[in-house]
Amino acid sequence: MLFEGLELVSALATLAACLVSVTLLLAVSQQLWQLRWAATRDKSCKLPIPKGSMGFPLIGETGHWLLQVFSKIFSHEALQNYLPKIRLVIQDTLRAWSSCPEAINVYQEAQKLTFRMAIRVLLGFSIPEEDLGHLFEVYQQFVENVFSLPVDLPFSGYRRGIQARQILQKGLEKAIREKLQCTQGKDYSDALDILIESSKEHGKEMTMQELKDGTLELIFAAYATTASASTSLIMQLLKHPAVLEKLREELRAQGILHSGGCPCEGTLRLDTLSGLHYLDCVIKEVMRLFTPISGGYRTVLQTFELDGFQIPKGWSVMYSIRDTHDTAPVFKDVNVFDPDRFGQARSEDKDGRFHYLPFGGGVRTCLGKHLAKLFLKVLAVELASTSRFELATRTFPRITLVPVLHPVDGLSVKFFGLDSNQNKILPETEAMLSATV
Ligand code: HEM
Repeated sequence: MLFEGLELVSALATLAACLVSVTLLLAVSQQLWQLRWAATRDKSCKLPIPKGSMGFPLIGETGHWLLQVFSKIFSHEALQNYLPKIRLVIQDTLRAWSSCPEAINVYQEAQKLTFRMAIRVLLGFSIPEEDLGHLFEVYQQFVENVFSLPVDLPFSGYRRGIQARQILQKGLEKAIREKLQCTQGKDYSDALDILIESSKEHGKEMTMQELKDGTLELIFAAYATTASASTSLIMQLLKHPAVLEKLREELRAQGILHSGGCPCEGTLRLDTLSGLHYLDCVIKEVMRLFTPISGGYRTVLQTFELDGFQIPKGWSVMYSIRDTHDTAPVFKDVNVFDPDRFGQARSEDKDGRFHYLPFGGGVRTCLGKHLAKLFLKVLAVELASTSRFELATRTFPRITLVPVLHPVDGLSVKFFGLDSNQNKILPETEAMLSATV
């Protein structure tokens, strides 16, 4: 009897310890997230830091008009405009990877690629390649120190983060000013143009500080997540050659890849990409098994009940994307990489709205999800049609989940072009990209 009583006390003590740890973890991590914005944004920025969600100050609860602007930035028409530029950036990068005699670190290179995409395509900056490389290094320093405690001492992470932010903001201000002055000969509107124009239409002309904060946040949202997903895509294509071959068959059937192997000339349109159903399944499956972000925060607006537990108004709650994907009953053999689960015959994601949410859900769902999916699709098409690639290590690397999912020590891969002529970096690529401003 005494023994049973002790067991009960010990079980209750363990439960209490678990609850305290989870609560503390939640409170500390949310506090750090808030500190991150307080520490990295400029003191003169008056936009409020919203409660819950990702906490992007620019898209806070009060900025409803901005949500409308963002729907324009990622509209079908805008994506169609970005597509050729995204393709050029990816083709140029794959050529460089293929012409490198050594194996490349895919995760590191994917980070550079998404940074380049954000700067060149989304923001339309025509920064020379050398300066872009420097800006990328500074940006990495900023990201590495974003979660540091705000202790302003020499050599502290906080000081390094603040210094990096100042350099970045200087670079961004220069690029924004040049862009505002040089509007002639533009062939399309990038996200920054739409942001500037639409905010004027809403009678809220943005200050230089808001523009700098906004651009920095857009890069931040796009950079790590898309680099993580791109790396996972390449890793899965390497692990599953049959999937890559099936993808190539689909590209051949749609006339995107010649039967001999080399890619067909011509433009890639959004509707062509939408018609590639197997490609869609592959991207969905990568995002299910290797979701870059673990979850998100919400503030409870109204007391509600979940599985018999009451969650009071005002509490902070965390939802887990990864656990949802791992435990959702709709997915058969959850740990198996199987793109066909999303095919018409099975459509495993169609049962229930909240089993599959790589981009979050509800009103704070990822605003850039269509752009991210477009980017991943173009990367897969270009990989399948212009590249041969091999793992350069004996085994696949271990995966770590923080800050976003990625392979430990990157992913070492040797790239070869399918056609040796394609290994040359074409000078016109740079010219076409800089023609955006
Ligand atoms: C594979 C790539 C990406 C993944 C997995 C991803 C995932 C997410 C997730 C899970 C959230 C949080 C949603 C929530 O709080 O419930 C989010 C928010 C956000 N994402 Fe993405 N994202 C990706 C790419 C992008 C890109 C390319 C952009 C824009 C260029 C972008 C812009 C944003 C913005 C602005 C938010 C904040 C939305 C808000 O708080 O209202 N994301 N993303």
